[in-house]
Amino acid sequence: MDARRAAVLGTIGIDRFVARAAPAAVAAGPPADAAQAPAGSLDWPALEAAVAGCTRCGLAATRTRTVFGVGDRRARWLVVGEAPGAEEDRQGEPFVGRAGQLLNSMLRAIGFGREQVFIANVLKCRPPSNRDPQPEEVRCCLPYLHRQIELIAPDLILCVGRIAAQNLLGVDTPIGQLRGRRHRLEPFGIPVVVTYHPAYLLRSPGEKRKSWSDLKLAMEVARGHGA
Ligand code: URA
Repeated sequence: MDARRAAVLGTIGIDRFVARAAPAAVAAGPPADAAQAPAGSLDWPALEAAVAGCTRCGLAATRTRTVFGVGDRRARWLVVGEAPGAEEDRQGEPFVGRAGQLLNSMLRAIGFGREQVFIANVLKCRPPSNRDPQPEEVRCCLPYLHRQIELIAPDLILCVGRIAAQNLLGVDTPIGQLRGRRHRLEPFGIPVVVTYHPAYLLRSPGEKRKSWSDLKLAMEVARGHGA
């Protein structure tokens, strides 16, 4: 395990991880102050409470609502985006704007209703003016997503957009080189496929063909990984 990965895992209380094992033992109930507990020890209600009360970074001061994630907590597919936008910040749900409608259509094209997958972001709070997430914000927030990944244990993670992919995979490779191939998220041992962000596809509809080929790859990879 590289030093960077070890550091991130350390922040969520994991020093060793066995791939594809059952989720780590969960807390009996929400700790007295869930927002202060390491995310790696939390069950769903405690994790949700921790995110709702989070003040780990400056985004707590500017958000309207936290955006925890939505969908089936036992989903086979986890969709990971970048961060809430204005509408998501208002409603407290990821991908509810125009990009969300396109994401829903993309999911429908491969046979999923929105409620059949789990949708979450790297950041749980909106960066002001939709600026890119800052490294410190990602460092504070990523343990929540990591815990969601552990609890869901999906067969596949579909990363939408460069920012989500680079931050989740811990690389700075351009999206053109990240998409179109299979990655593995360690230490979870979960396959990751990267595609373009639906907001980008709205601006550049000519790229939808490549995105469709990414989705077909994702189906193939998920079939290979699932039961
Ligand atoms: N873009 C994202 O990456 N996530 C959202 O929730 C909304 C827009």
